[in-house]
Amino acid sequence: MKIKPISSYSKMSKLAAKIVAKQIINKPNTVLGLATGGTPLGMYRELVKLYKKGKLDFSKVTTFNLDEYLGLSPEHPQSYHYYMYENFFNHVNIEEKNIHIPKGDTKDPVQECLNYGREIEKVGGIDLQVLGIGVNGHVGFNEPNINLEAKTHVIQLSNETIRANSRFFKNLDKVPRKAITMGMATIMKSKKIVLMAWGIEKKKPILKVTSGHIATEVPASLLQVHNDVILIVDKKIYPSSTVSNSLSYPEKI
Ligand code: F6R
Repeated sequence: MKIKPISSYSKMSKLAAKIVAKQIINKPNTVLGLATGGTPLGMYRELVKLYKKGKLDFSKVTTFNLDEYLGLSPEHPQSYHYYMYENFFNHVNIEEKNIHIPKGDTKDPVQECLNYGREIEKVGGIDLQVLGIGVNGHVGFNEPNINLEAKTHVIQLSNETIRANSRFFKNLDKVPRKAITMGMATIMKSKKIVLMAWGIEKKKPILKVTSGHIATEVPASLLQVHNDVILIVDKKIYPSSTVSNSLSYPEKI
């Protein structure tokens, strides 16, 4: 894991956008795995800026979102579908047919998971996966557990995640209790992964993710097995001085 401690949210967003941009320039028909939440908002803003300056072309890009709340329609303002169009897709030249987000209002969630997994396999998997991390160490909505699922599946959200995500809803009761998420194998098969972590509340999971220990109770810790992960991390939670105590080393990119 390459670790890049960074001093501001804006620098983290710019660096993540640069990595995504480089990937698209090198491979215009890139398959991107995308995350939602607070963390990647700045990165989406930067990518839109690059597009508007004429530096990026999304016309051949395919995207797969990591997850979606079960029970929310695409029009629901808190759905990840709505978030993605509002913050990114509406502002770039991506083709509608190339956008994939699990259908939260599906009548058959199991079939939806199977279809979603097949669509990812059909395009040969994900080239570059963008990830955030939950306060409990989840990636996508793969929640801490003694068992993790490999493929796209329905998951019961943990109380910690429901609490953390309630900041986007009117109140705790409005947060859906279930979601559809890509599984750990799908994420781990991505050729390249960018993990972003910003804010002191991510200190606990990030220290576990860089500890050298792997546990399904910290799903993101599995990323230590992947050979092409860059972690862009808030300097406050991962100052360079702690790097030598970990198994991972920072690298200039
Ligand atoms: C969202 C997702 C989640 C978030 C994580 C962090 O699509 O997959 O794993 O990345 O919950 O969320 P924020 O960025 O809001 O702290």
